[in-house]
Amino acid sequence: MTARPAAAHLLVTGGAGFIGSAFVREVLARHDGTRITVLDKLTYAGNETNLEPVRDDPEQAERLTFVRGDIADPEAVAPLAAVADAIVNFAAESHVDRSILDPEAFLRTGVIGVHVLLEAQRREAARAASGKRASAPRLLQVSTDEVYGSVAEGHAPETATLAPRSPYAAAKAAGELLARSYVITYGADVVVTRGSNTYGPYQHPEKLIPLFVTNALDDGELPLYGDGLQRRDWLEVTDHALAIEHVLWHGVAGETYNIPGSAELTNRDVVARLLEHLGKPWSLVRTVEDRPGHDRRYAMDGTKLAALGWRNRIPFDVGLARTIDWFAANEPWWRAVRSGDWDAYYERMYGARLATSREA
Ligand code: NAD
Ligand code: TYD
Repeated sequence: MTARPAAAHLLVTGGAGFIGSAFVREVLARHDGTRITVLDKLTYAGNETNLEPVRDDPEQAERLTFVRGDIADPEAVAPLAAVADAIVNFAAESHVDRSILDPEAFLRTGVIGVHVLLEAQRREAARAASGKRASAPRLLQVSTDEVYGSVAEGHAPETATLAPRSPYAAAKAAGELLARSYVITYGADVVVTRGSNTYGPYQHPEKLIPLFVTNALDDGELPLYGDGLQRRDWLEVTDHALAIEHVLWHGVAGETYNIPGSAELTNRDVVARLLEHLGKPWSLVRTVEDRPGHDRRYAMDGTKLAALGWRNRIPFDVGLARTIDWFAANEPWWRAVRSGDWDAYYERMYGARLATSREA
């Protein structure tokens, strides 16, 4: 547990992305005086319009500072860490398929970037030890269930062996291991969360649920990888963001916490529910060539987080319906995201696959 200051000042890295921006919106909307500085590189996945609900409310907007910069740049990070009560790191390249095409950026942000944050935190801990600040900022490293690799049966506890199988998952595992080494070597106040597959408003349409919802809204084809019987445990984005906040203030230094979802389903099942809600036919779904090294199943044990007092609040059916309705109502948001490089990305990822696709 770390002491929560009355009106905390948080440094939220990657706060213009999907989960990071949900964290910022949720925390600031509580009107409890918390201030947030977002440091975000604004990669293709970062989007300042995700923070518009904050900007639209003058009281919240006043408590948000946005800085465009890279967590792998020590000069960008140092002055922000110096005034932060805690650092929450969402920044990452986050799409498995892109990591298969081009892994380098994943390593730069996931390893070098995490190292820069750990060094900044170590420097602040030294300043605290010499009386230059009251206490060191805790660092929460946001990680993923994908570090366990494919879980054939049962539910992985936090003590399970890390067995990442994609460049994305390997970069996330590397960031975690580096953080762990700082806990052991320097006594750093770091906590790690491993979140499940997350869905909700503002998710980039490269990921399964928003891709299929936006394609279906256009009556376009839905490229289902392989047999579609891969299993994921779905976590609604505000549940994920608020579970991270719970661990930030209540987690034990040096510990790692799984954040499981609320529904383990096959991809086919998710797609069937999504089409049913939209009133669109299954015939849109096309079986396409599988993802190389595709993890069959993710599943985590949530006992440790439950013991810390956390419960997810949003059942999958409720969250999925709200998410689909949000995309239907916010077409300008996703049309803007699906512009620029999107067509080239889509062609590279799906062109050949769809050309050789078959009925699903
Ligand atoms: P996202 O791709 O939507 O957002 C990532 C954000 O980080 C973007 O705003 C991007 O601009 C920013 N960013 C990337 N590199 C940066 C850098 N070097 N410096 C500063 N900012 C940088 O990702 P997301 O889905 O919101 O995921 C957030 C975190 O949660 C990631 O660490 C991811 O590994 C983890 N996670 C995601 C899921 C999921 O299902 N989406 C599940 C578990 C864990
Ligand atoms: P994704 O949303 O990329 O998350 P992750 O790879 O982190 O689980 O994919 C979720 C599941 O959906 C995964 O089993 C891959 C599958 N999928 C498809 O079948 N087609 C697609 O076009 C995409 C993007 C994913």
